[in-house]
Order: sequence, then C-alpha cells, then structure tokens
Amino acid sequence: MPKREKELTIFEALRESHEKQRAFSEKLIQTSGDTTERRELFELLKNELFAHAVAEDRFLYIPLMMSDAGLNITRHALSEHHEMDELLEKLTETEFSNSGWLAIAKKLSEVVHHHLQEEEHSFFQQAGKILADDQKKELAQKYQTEYTKYLNKDKDSLT
Ligand SMILES: [Fe+2]
Ligand SMILES: [Fe+2]
Repeated sequence: MPKREKELTIFEALRESHEKQRAFSEKLIQTSGDTTERRELFELLKNELFAHAVAEDRFLYIPLMMSDAGLNITRHALSEHHEMDELLEKLTETEFSNSGWLAIAKKLSEVVHHHLQEEEHSFFQQAGKILADDQKKELAQKYQTEYTKYLNKDKDSLT
C-alpha cells in the first residue's frame, strides 16, 4: 500500500517529481522539428523543472543552509538549478524548428540526469543527517503545497 501523504519525507516527495523530469526529458530528446509533441513535452518539462526547483529551494535547500554542513551541498545544488534555468531559457528563445534545438535539449537532459543522480545518491543522504525526523515530514507537506501551486502557474507571469 502506498504511504499516506502525511507520512512522506521530503526526500520521497522530491523523488516523485524527479521521475517525471527523467521521463519528460528522455521523451523530449526523441522528438524532431517543430511538432506538437516537441512543444507539449517541452512545456511539461519546463513547468515540472520550474515548480520543483522553486519548492525544493525553499523547503530543502534554504533550511539546509542554516547549518555549515548543509551550506556546501546547497551552493552546489543551486548552481545546477541555475544551469538548468539557463538552458531552458536558451531553448525558449530558439525556434523549435532550428537544427540546434535538439543539441541544447540533449545538454539539458544530461544536466537534469546528472543533477537528480547527485541529489538522490549524495545530497539527500547528507541532508538526511542534518534534518530532524519530524522536520523531514513537515518540509514534505510544505514542499507539496508550494510545488502544486507553481505547477499551475505561468512562469512568465511571475516576472
Ligand atoms: Fe530535485
Ligand atoms: Fe534539485
């Protein structure tokens, strides 16, 4: 039986979005040219990455920054979030039909896969030692609320 929402830890909650990010980016790099499929997958990936990063920054990394041990992983993770943001922006500015589009999408997919791997196999383990057990559950709730809120928001309307 799946765990009740209330019992999820922040790490389990984060992994649910990671699976979507992997699936969307893998499908995206199978597309070619200006097609509905490419447009839809790009929109899905972009929204997913954005909502996840906002909520993860606020409810995992910012709380971790309060400790010296958490500061290094936070800086590392935030710089990768920034790198993904820049690639997303580049893709947004490039025509879907442009022959260079796929190369940028492949780079993004690589960065996404690398980042998720590092979070799941290194950062989360280190964070698990820093955060208290009740904090891990409390942050999961806050993350879920924030993530859902941003998933339904148009990124461009925020600026
Ligand atoms: Fe993540
Ligand atoms: Fe992340």
